[in-house]
Amino acid sequence: MNYDRTSNLILHRTSRKEIEDGILTIVKGQGIHVEDSNGNRYVDMDSGITRPVGLGYGRQEVAQAVYDQIMECSYVTPCARSNEPAMKLAAKLAEIAPGKINRFTFECSGSEAVESAMKMAKLYHYYNGDKARYKVVSRQGAYHGVNGLGLRALGTVLPMRLMFDPGASGGLFIPSPYCYRCFYKLSHPDCGLKCAEHLEEIINSEGPELVSAFIGEPVQQGFGSYSPPPDYWPAIRKICDKYGVLLISDEVICGFGRTGKMFGIEHFGIEPDMITAAKCLTSGYVPLSAVGVTDAIADKVENFMHLHTYGNHPVACAAALAVIDIYQKEDMVEKSRVVGDYLLQAMQDGLKDLPSVGEVRGKGLWVSADMTPDRKTRAVMPGANLNSIVNRAMAKGYLIKAMGSAIELAPPYTFAKEDVDAFMPVFVSCLKEEEKAMGLRK
Ligand SMILES: Cc1ncc(COP(=O)(O)O)c(C=O)c1O
Repeated sequence: MNYDRTSNLILHRTSRKEIEDGILTIVKGQGIHVEDSNGNRYVDMDSGITRPVGLGYGRQEVAQAVYDQIMECSYVTPCARSNEPAMKLAAKLAEIAPGKINRFTFECSGSEAVESAMKMAKLYHYYNGDKARYKVVSRQGAYHGVNGLGLRALGTVLPMRLMFDPGASGGLFIPSPYCYRCFYKLSHPDCGLKCAEHLEEIINSEGPELVSAFIGEPVQQGFGSYSPPPDYWPAIRKICDKYGVLLISDEVICGFGRTGKMFGIEHFGIEPDMITAAKCLTSGYVPLSAVGVTDAIADKVENFMHLHTYGNHPVACAAALAVIDIYQKEDMVEKSRVVGDYLLQAMQDGLKDLPSVGEVRGKGLWVSADMTPDRKTRAVMPGANLNSIVNRAMAKGYLIKAMGSAIELAPPYTFAKEDVDAFMPVFVSCLKEEEKAMGLRK
């Protein structure tokens, strides 16, 4: 079949100019490598850029599980019918989920999981006799997806929410715990965790009887794999408990090993009321997301008033079971932690004398270099320079991404220490070239 490479397909968040300048078509993936339609091979340093491909590409076991389930039974409705893979997957997640999260429903994308979690929170309050609660508090700089309710928790990192305003009402935003460029220009711990305290202020000013949930990523993507100070999440948990506000841990990126633990919230010693997960749940092999809730919530919600044709999809659930099986048998979460620590150390040591690198941080195989043209003022790195670094790396065979003012790395969990050693000199050369172009070095 003849087709024009750009004319019929609509890409997401890609401008006309970018399309005209030339867009990569990825045609093959194996392990940590992908290949484009011109035969160029790259190390995929961001697991498919949106970071789902935890396992790496091309695992036969996942293909087999998908094939077997299609031949067994390719579709079952989620309404008044159950299916074996979905029940098994819910039981498996109940074993590994954080805290008391014990019951699950499945959707196709992270956005839908966020949407369903917000609906579930509202239903919980409804059945509890608290029918007025509908507001959701999120954080400036957060990202929680593209759907109607999710848009109200989108934060301010992307222009996407602003373009679609006015969206669903009831979205409230507090500052993120982004200490490197603190919203209040304070320093932890002297700041008294003002960013967490802000949650209590906004609940009180908006009416505690109207606030349904707080949603946040344990480690936040918005500024480049940002971990809050250790006392942040306990403070948030306390405020939620005080006002009967449900705490949703959005594990869409963090979940299933990305941060070196099975779930990101495990780093912070608190238990969420709900989680959302997607991406590494199936390692990107097929679309699937999950909402997990405690029994306390599921028992209250007499009837989850929701119906989605592809909810609890048996083929996608079978894929997730195969993926989690490999994570466990091959100790992938531990690999993410160990190689992640090695990558973090290599980045901290290797970039410490580079004038454009402000802070190197991360957890597990999710590491970022926060970039700045001026280390003293911590000014944000212009997007054009970040893109130029990304392009330099691509020309040298590495796919990396810009996030906020940072360059972010999130390779598959099969990325090894030798791969770190091979990557570092290439990355340093890209940064030095850009510093030269910016006049930061001779
Ligand atoms: C934390 C978080 N929540 C939700 C989403 C939305 O997920 P999806 O793109 O699968 O709809 C994303 C996507 O990047 C995310 O990072």
